[in-house]
Amino acid sequence: MSGWIKHSDFWQAAADLLRRGAGASAHPFALPTLCTVGPTCVPRPRKVVLRAVNSDTTMLRTYTDRRSVKATHLKEGSEASYVFWDPNQQLQLMTGGPTSWASEEEADAVFAGLPKHGRKAYATEAAPGTPLPSPGSGLPPDWEERDKEATDFARDHFGILVTTLRWADVLHLDRGGNTRMAGTRPLNGDWTWEWVVP
Ligand SMILES: Cc1cc2nc3c(=O)[nH]c(=O)nc-3n(C[C@H](O)[C@H](O)[C@H](O)COP(=O)(O)O)c2cc1C
Repeated sequence: MSGWIKHSDFWQAAADLLRRGAGASAHPFALPTLCTVGPTCVPRPRKVVLRAVNSDTTMLRTYTDRRSVKATHLKEGSEASYVFWDPNQQLQLMTGGPTSWASEEEADAVFAGLPKHGRKAYATEAAPGTPLPSPGSGLPPDWEERDKEATDFARDHFGILVTTLRWADVLHLDRGGNTRMAGTRPLNGDWTWEWVVP
């Protein structure tokens, strides 16, 4: 048996993994799958890096190109859903909620601190997903010669997505019996949980 008796303890186990995963590339929670949905109702999953979690683990941040499909989906009204899996802890967290852009001031500050190689993902000449005549990076042809200042143009494409968690589903696998709970929270309130069949 997993031994989880209190909802709050179970959530703290998941929240602790979020805190440890944020920005720590070696941690399994650092690389969740982010899913959005477009007007055709086809869910679109992709890997992203979990960059930050706020102090009460109700907001997740990831960086992205504002021209990407996910950004279009969000603009068209999609929420963002994340799934995390830690094989060491045997714990899955599905969670999500409404998602918007962090302030321009915050994006300015983060972008300024990105090294040149960290800006590549936002520096392609055309939007991510644009067809190319042959395999290529999509970066300006003189990318390698540029100094960091000459990559500042990528700031126009850089954005920080902030997801406010409104629902979550935590599953712990255990040979003696799996444990799962599901919960929701109002925009600025506390979680309400219930145990559910795993
Ligand atoms: C390991 C890994 C980490 C990634 N991290 C990010 C990320 O933090 N942000 C991001 O926008 N895309 C990231 N990507 C690329 C996305 O998976 C995806 O290809 C890209 O964002 C375009 O997605 P979209 O067209 O569905 O919007 C990552 C891909 C991999 C394989």
